[in-house]
Amino acid sequence: MGALLRIGGWLAMVMGWAGAATAAEPAAVERGRYLVETILACGNCHTPKDADGRPVASRALSGGGLSFDLPPFAGTASNITPDVETGIGAWTDDEIKRAITLGERPRHGRLAEQPLGLPMWVAFYKALTPGDLDAVVAYLRSVPAVRNEIPPPVYRKPVVRERYPDGERAYTERDLRDPVQRGRYLVTIGHCMECHTPNDKGVTLYEQRFGAGGRPYLPAMVKGFASAWPGAVSRNITSHPDAGLGRWTDGEIKRAISRGVGRDGRTLQPPMGFAWYAGLSDADLDAIVAWLRTVPPLP
Ligand code: HEC
Ligand code: HEC
Repeated sequence: MGALLRIGGWLAMVMGWAGAATAAEPAAVERGRYLVETILACGNCHTPKDADGRPVASRALSGGGLSFDLPPFAGTASNITPDVETGIGAWTDDEIKRAITLGERPRHGRLAEQPLGLPMWVAFYKALTPGDLDAVVAYLRSVPAVRNEIPPPVYRKPVVRERYPDGERAYTERDLRDPVQRGRYLVTIGHCMECHTPNDKGVTLYEQRFGAGGRPYLPAMVKGFASAWPGAVSRNITSHPDAGLGRWTDGEIKRAISRGVGRDGRTLQPPMGFAWYAGLSDADLDAIVAWLRTVPPLP
C-alpha cells in the first residue's frame, strides 16, 4: 500500500491533477488510509475483485467491487477515485463529506442531486469525528485516479435511511481516548451491527435483537465476491455465553475479525471484510472486543 501511495503521489505531480492531495497534511492522509483500508473497508464495495474475490490493488476504489440487487436499489458501487469524469475528482471536499455522511450527491455532474442508494451506509458514517472525516477525504484525494465508468443504478423506491442508535452524532477526540467508547466508535463506523442485527421487512431490529445475528447474505442479492461464494448468515455477537461470544477468549474474537477464522477453526465467509480488518492495530482490536463485551446478551 505504501508503494501504491508513493506512486499516487508521483503521478499527481507528473500529471498535475489533484493539487489538493499534495496540499493535505501527510498525517491526515495516513490516518485516512488507515481508516479506509481497515475498519471502514470502503474497498470491500468500491474496489473491483478478481474471480477469487481478492481486491485488485491497482484499481483500488475505482468502483464495480460489489453490485446489489435489493428491493429498493439495483446498482454498483461508484468510482470514488479522483478521476474527473468517471470518479469524484470534480467534487469539493464538502461535497464528498455530504455524500459520505448524508448520502447527498452534488448539484452537478453524473446523477446530480440523486440521493445515494441504500448500500452506501451513511447512517453509520455520520459518527466519524470531524478530524477523521477530513482524513478520509484527504486519503480519497491521494489515491491514483482510475478511469472506470459505472453504469447508473436503478432506484426502485425512494431512499429511506434507518437511524443507528450509536451513530446519531459525530464522535469527538475525547470519546476516542476511552477504550470502550473507542470500540463503540469503531463498531459504529465499521457498521458491524448493521449486518449482525436481523432485519424484519426492511426494519433492522436494533431495539429488540441488537447483535443477535441471523441476517442472510445471498449470492442473488450481491455480486462481486468469489464465483464460488456460497453466501453467509451473520452470527450472534452479543455477550450471550452460548449463542454469542460470551465464552470466547479475546484472542478468539480478534482472530475471527482480523483473520476470518471461526472459534472452531473454520474459514469465515464474506461479506464481512476480513482482508481489510487484518490491518487493524492491536489497540483498536482490543477496543472493539472491550465494547463487544458490553453488548447485552441475547439468545
Ligand atoms: C456496502 C457497500 C459500500 C460500502 C462499505 C461503502 N460504499 Fe460508498 N457507495 C456504495 C454504493 C452502492 C454506492 C452507489 C450508490 C448510488 O449509485 O446511488 C456508493 C456511493 C458512494 C459515493 C458517491 C459517488 C458517486 O459518484 O456517486 C461516495 C463518495 C462513496 N460511496 C464513498 C464511500 C466511502 C468513503 C466509503 C467508506 C467510508 C464507502 N463509500 C463505503 C456502496 C458502499
Ligand atoms: C457486511 C456484513 C458484515 C459486517 C460489516 C461485519 N460482519 Fe461479522 N460476520 C458477518 C457474517 C455474514 C458472518 C458469518 C460468516 C460465516 O459464518 O462464514 C460474520 C461473522 C462474524 C464473527 C464470527 C462469529 C461466529 O460465531 O463465528 C464475528 C466475531 C464478527 N463477525 C464480528 C464482527 C465485527 C466486530 C464487525 C465490525 C468490525 C463485523 N463483524 C462486521 C457479516 C458482517
